[in-house]
Amino acid sequence: MPSAAITCWWAVGVLYQIYPRSFQDADGDGIGDLAGIIARLPYLVDLGVDAIWLSPIFPSPMADFGYDIADYVGIDPLFGTMDDFDALVAAAHGNGLKVILDLVPNHTSDRHPWFVESRASRDNPKRDWYLWRDPAPDGGPPNNWLSEFGGSGWQYDETTRQYYYHAFLAQQPDLNWRNPKVREAIYQVMRFWLGRGVDGFRVDVIWHLIKDELFRDNPPNPDFKPEMPPHAALHPVYSADRPETLQVVAEMRRVIDEFDARVLIGEIYLPIERLVAYYGEGLAGAQLPFNFALLSTPWHARTLAQLIDRYEAALPQGAWPNWVLGNHDRPRIASRVGLAQSRVAAMLLLTLRGTPTMYYGDEIGMQQVAIAPEQVRDPFEKNVPGIGVGRDGCRTPMQWDASAHGGFSAAQPWLPLAEHYAQENVANLSADAQSILNLYRALISLRKRLPQLAHGDYAPLAADGDLLLYRRHDATGSVLIALNLGAQPVSVVSDTIGLDGEILLSTAMDRGGERVGSELSLRGHEGVIVGPAPEEVV
Ligand code: GLC
Ligand code: MG
Repeated sequence: MPSAAITCWWAVGVLYQIYPRSFQDADGDGIGDLAGIIARLPYLVDLGVDAIWLSPIFPSPMADFGYDIADYVGIDPLFGTMDDFDALVAAAHGNGLKVILDLVPNHTSDRHPWFVESRASRDNPKRDWYLWRDPAPDGGPPNNWLSEFGGSGWQYDETTRQYYYHAFLAQQPDLNWRNPKVREAIYQVMRFWLGRGVDGFRVDVIWHLIKDELFRDNPPNPDFKPEMPPHAALHPVYSADRPETLQVVAEMRRVIDEFDARVLIGEIYLPIERLVAYYGEGLAGAQLPFNFALLSTPWHARTLAQLIDRYEAALPQGAWPNWVLGNHDRPRIASRVGLAQSRVAAMLLLTLRGTPTMYYGDEIGMQQVAIAPEQVRDPFEKNVPGIGVGRDGCRTPMQWDASAHGGFSAAQPWLPLAEHYAQENVANLSADAQSILNLYRALISLRKRLPQLAHGDYAPLAADGDLLLYRRHDATGSVLIALNLGAQPVSVVSDTIGLDGEILLSTAMDRGGERVGSELSLRGHEGVIVGPAPEEVV
C-alpha cells in the first residue's frame, strides 16, 4: 500500500527522544541543558538517528519536570537561553538532524499568567480558559473524575469558592479546549516555534484535550485491582478521548501544514482501534499517533505477531505506522525484557514497518535504576508511593564514560547514575565491536541502506514457540527477519519460506556474511536479518 507519506523524513527516519534534564550537563549544575545537547550532537549523528524530540525545555516551576509550563514561548534558565535554543536548532540542522519539541496544550502550570488571571475572580476574562465548576451540593468535588497522579481531579480554590479540574497535578490546571481563544493562543505558540525552525511537535496527552460538556461521572472499571494506580478505578469515558478532540487535532494539523515538511505526533495511550482514529478523517489529523503497544504487550512471539497484525489491519488507508520501545514514563526495555533480549527488541523496532522512536540510553542498554525513597523526585511516585509507578528510574543520567558522574556532569546529578555506569557507557560500548550500541548503529545503517526495511511492506510468516518470523519486501526484493524471543536455540527450515541469501546482521554481531542454506539456526536471544548479499544490492 504505497503512499505519499513514505518519502517524508519523519516516515523514513529514526526518531530519538532526549530527556533534557538527563542527557548532558554543560554548566555543571547536575542538570542537563541545551549546551550539553549541542555538545553531544556528533554522537547522535554517528548513531545515525534523523530527528531528536526534546521533552519540555520551557520556563516551569518543575512540579512535573517541565510538563507544567509557565511560559510557552521561552526557555527555562536551567536549560539555557533562547540563543542556546537557536544555536541548537542551527547545529542540529547543520548536521542533518530535525528538531521536535514537546507541546503541552492540555494544561499549564498554576503559575502561568493565564491561570493566575483565571483564578483571580469569577468574571476575569481568562476565567473560561480553564475548567471551573461549583462544588457538589455536599461541598465536595463537582464529579468523580480522578487525577492520573492520584486523588481527585478537582482542586478547591478559596478565592472564588469553585473547583478547577486537573487531569494531572493540582499544579497543572487543565485548559478549556472548548474555548476558541485557548485554541488560538496555543496555535500561536505552535507558529512561534515552527517559525523558529522547529520541525514538529510531540503533543502531550493529546487524547485528553476535550472533556464532556456535561461533566458526567466516569463509570467504575470492573477490572480494577488495588495494586493498580488509583485512577484506573474508573473508565475515563467522559474525561478523555471525546469525539470533539479529533477536531482539535485536525486544527493543529492545519497549523503544521502552514509550514513545509513539519510533523504532528500525538502522545496517545489508547487501544489500537481508538488510537488509529487520531490519524483523522482523510488523514488530516496527526501524521504519527504514537503507538505504545510494544511498551505493554507481553514479550512472546505469538502476542507480538498478533499485535503487529492487529495494528497493520487497523491502520487507515495510506496511514504511516510507527513503533515506540521506550519513553520517560515507562520502565526501560532492558529491564522489562532483560539485557540479552533487549537486542532482539532493538532488531524488532528497527525492522518493523513504520517510524521507530528510540528513547535515550536504550541504545546502550540502560536499565531501570533503583531509586531510594529519599531520592524520589517524581511527583507520581510521591503521591502514589510503593506500587511501582515511579518514573525516576527510567530518567537517570546518560552514561557517557567511566569518569566521575559518568561524563554527564561535573557535579552530583539530579538523579543517581546506574550502579555499573563505569562499565556500561558510551565510551566502552563504542570500543566493543559486538556491543548493543554497535548493534543499534548497524541496525540503523542497514535500515537506511535497504529500501525494504525503510518502506517495504510487512508480511507475517510465523510465530511459533519463541520464534517470530516476518518479511519486509518491495518490488525489488525481500528481507527476512527471524527473532528468537527465548533463551533456547530455535531453527527454521527454509523450504516453505524460501530463505535465500546471507545473514546481513545478527544481534550477536558475529555472523555477518554467513550463507543461509536449507536451515537457519538461531541461538538463544538471537535475531537475524537475512537478505541478498550486499554485492547483489544496488
Ligand atoms: C505525559 C508526559 C508525562 C507527564 C504527563 C502530564 O504523559 O509524558 O511525563 O507527566 O503527560 O503532562
Ligand atoms: Mg546544567
